[in-house]
Amino acid sequence: VCIRQATVDDLLAMQSCNLMCLPENYQMKYYFYHILSWPQLLYVAEDYNKKIVGYVLAKMEEESTECHGHITSLAVLRTHRKLGLATKLMNAAQQAMQEVFGAEYVSLHVRKSNRAAFHLYTETLGYRINDIEAKYYADSEDAYDMRKMLKTKS
Ligand code: ACO
Repeated sequence: VCIRQATVDDLLAMQSCNLMCLPENYQMKYYFYHILSWPQLLYVAEDYNKKIVGYVLAKMEEESTECHGHITSLAVLRTHRKLGLATKLMNAAQQAMQEVFGAEYVSLHVRKSNRAAFHLYTETLGYRINDIEAKYYADSEDAYDMRKMLKTKS
């Protein structure tokens, strides 16, 4: 399995991976918005048959004063989990946020009940809980608003 930057040709496969893995789904125009605005922040995991088995969809937050990145969505197909793919996808997006856009930190939302993702973010990647957003999700579940500082250039 290889990790590479996504192209426009990957967007349908990314959307289908999202539909299989998460209840938070997006219209195709939202994927296009991401890749047209921040092409360096979308990565896919591709197996030896050229099948997309995971993705990360990320963006820069422009309205706030501090320049920071945001992970919109991350997923890996069930058949390819626990192989370190999510860790690699996240590291690729985080590195580009820092190097290409000068992000000071990266933020994301995750369901309180999502043990696998919470473990990945806190234990493997070093995110901290910044806040709790009550009833953030459509089914009223709370979200952890999480952040990780990125190394800034001296
Ligand atoms: N339970 C406990 N720990 C887990 C689990 C699990 N089910 N799955 C992974 N981990 C741990 C791994 O052991 C590893 O820990 P280590 O670094 O201490 O060895 C760490 O998390 C990272 O594992 P990876 O192999 O890199 O993660 P993986 O490729 O399996 O993907 C993911 C993790 C993305 C959460 C996957 O389970 C998934 O797609 N889940 C459904 C979709 C989802 O929840 N996406 C995130 C939503 S939040 C958002 O999108 C911003």
